[in-house]
Amino acid sequence: MPLAPFPDARFRRTRKSAALRDLVRENTLTPGDFIWPIFLRDGEGIEEPVPSMPGVVRRSVDLVAQAAREAHALGIPAICLFPYTDPSLKTEDCAEAWNPENLSNRATRAIKAAVPEMVVMTDVALDPYNINGHDGFVVDGEVVNDATVGALVKQALSQAEAGADIIGPSDMMDGRIGAIRGALEAGGFPNVALLSYSAKYASAFYGPFRDAVGASGALKGDKKTYQMDPANSDEALRLVDRDLSEGADMVMIKPGMPYLDICRRVKDRFGAPTYAYQVSGEYAMIQGAAQNGWIDGEQAMMESLMGFKRAGCDGVLTYFAPAAARLLNG
Ligand code: PBG
Repeated sequence: MPLAPFPDARFRRTRKSAALRDLVRENTLTPGDFIWPIFLRDGEGIEEPVPSMPGVVRRSVDLVAQAAREAHALGIPAICLFPYTDPSLKTEDCAEAWNPENLSNRATRAIKAAVPEMVVMTDVALDPYNINGHDGFVVDGEVVNDATVGALVKQALSQAEAGADIIGPSDMMDGRIGAIRGALEAGGFPNVALLSYSAKYASAFYGPFRDAVGASGALKGDKKTYQMDPANSDEALRLVDRDLSEGADMVMIKPGMPYLDICRRVKDRFGAPTYAYQVSGEYAMIQGAAQNGWIDGEQAMMESLMGFKRAGCDGVLTYFAPAAARLLNG
C-alpha cells in the first residue's frame, strides 16, 4: 500500500508525548527477559571484582544464595553459573567437570535450596577444567569431537543430578545435543531443558570472560576449528535446525550485538525460543565507554537490551541483568 504523502503522513504525530510513544511501542523489555550469568569461585565470604568487567564479581558459593534472592526479588527468572576453577583442579582429562562436588554443582544446590523458583542454567564445556583452556579434549594438538562428547554427557548428567533446570552446551562439538538428550532421557531427567549454543562464533568479544574464569592464560591457540566463522549466516540456520532436531528446547546466538541479524533469521525461520548472549566484551565496551564519560552507560545498556527484543529474541543472557532490572522496576 503506498504511503500517504506529507502532510497527511506525519510520523511525528505518534512521537509527540511520552504517552503516545508508550501507545505505539512495538517491543517491551522486562526483568523477565533476563538470564543473569554469575561467576563462582572457591572460598567463603568472597566477592572479588573482575578487573576487565567493571561491576561484575566472582562470588564464593555461600554468597550465591543471597545473589539469587536479590535476583528473584528483582523479577529475574534465571541464573547461569560459570565457575572459576582453581588451576590445581585443571587436568587433561577434565574430571572436575563431572565431580558432583564441583563449584557449579554446589552453587546449583545452594540456589535451589534458597530460592526453589529460580531457574538454574549450567554451562556444558570443558574449558574451565581443561589444562589447555579448550572446550574439548586435545589430542596431538587437535580438539577432538567424539571423545569430547562422551565427557560432555557426563558433565551434563552431573549438572542435572545437582538440580539444574536448563543445561547450556556452549562447546560447539557436533552431535552433543543428541547425545546429552538421550542420556538425560535414559538417566531419569526427561524434564531438564537444553538451551543449545547453536550459533556460537569464534569471537574477540570473549576476552574479559576468559579472564573472569581464569582461562586466558591456559588457552593455547584459538577456537576456530569448533566455533563459527563470523562471516557465516546460513550455517547458523543449519546448526539451529540440527540442534532442534536433536532435542534442543531453546537456542542461543553468541555474541549478541554484532549478530542481531542471526537472531532475526533464526527467530523468523524456526519460531523456537531464541536467546542472545550479550557477552563479556560487549559489557566491557559499554561500561568502559561509560566510565570514561563517552556515553551514557544506563541509556546505552537499555538500548542494547531492547535491540535484542527487536531482533526477535525471547530473552537475553546479560551481565547487566540486575542493573537493568533495577531500572525497569523504577
Ligand atoms: C566457553 C565459553 C565462552 C564464554 C562462555 N563460555 C567463550 C569462550 O571462551 O570461547 C564467553 C562468555 C562471555 O564472553 O561473556 N565455553
